[in-house]
Amino acid sequence: MDLKSQINLEKLPKHIAIIMDGNGRWAKQHGKPRVFGHKNGVIAVREATEAAAELGVKFLTLYAFSTENWNRPKLEVNALMRLLVETLHKEVETLNKNDIRLQAIGDISKLPERTYQALLQGIEDTKDNTRMTLVLALNYSARWEIIDACRRLAQQVLAGEASPAQIDEQLFSNALNTRDIPDPELLIRTSGENRISNFLLWQIAYTELYFSPAFWPDFRKEHLYQAIIDYQQRERRFGKISEQLVQ
Ligand code: IPE
Ligand code: IPE
Ligand code: MG
Repeated sequence: MDLKSQINLEKLPKHIAIIMDGNGRWAKQHGKPRVFGHKNGVIAVREATEAAAELGVKFLTLYAFSTENWNRPKLEVNALMRLLVETLHKEVETLNKNDIRLQAIGDISKLPERTYQALLQGIEDTKDNTRMTLVLALNYSARWEIIDACRRLAQQVLAGEASPAQIDEQLFSNALNTRDIPDPELLIRTSGENRISNFLLWQIAYTELYFSPAFWPDFRKEHLYQAIIDYQQRERRFGKISEQLVQ
């Protein structure tokens, strides 16, 4: 039986987040410079996006550039930023054809001007699409996001719009970049690394984690199907015991 037909569409995660990792090692394996890996990573982005949308997933968040990634060699950072512009320009048409809305999380105003503008344009051009939302995490750091939320809340308190006692999980969530996005049920990281690397720390409190050994440029629809099947076989207890769960 093929993998896709093993997926229970009634228990589909509404939001899948992916830490796309392993581009550099994939390139090295092929005897090529790291940028070659990033370029081929775009193919995997297309595959994952298409597969998720076809299944009926409502949100797909891709970790594309972390705040820590600025510390990479300048040549690689510049190539990544250029690739982003190029990809955004190229893919917006496909996103529209597939009724996919583009969004971004992270401190995006600090991106190079051309990347920032291409991103804003992509968001604007796809804003009315409703089948799925593709969220790019760019210059994203979960700790930055949490601190930023604290700052917003502090300002609200100073302005007399909220009292400290009113600050609860709901209010805090609403101060995050992801305010309009539900928490992911499933987080995938590729390349065999078992860590979170400053991604969505608040939002993944009860997320199921799935680690794939595949390098990101090798990631295909079947890898996504496999992750979803694995997720669907798990029992999500949220602190309760098995017998308390309604089937
Ligand atoms: C992920 O692949 C892409 C980005 C972080 C931008 P890497 O570039 O981290 O690849 P590895 O981990 O060095 O193999
Ligand atoms: C995490 O990958 C960031 C992205 C996928 C954009 P890294 O390759 O930067 O993570 P570390 O440094 O190995 O933890
Ligand atoms: Mg990496």
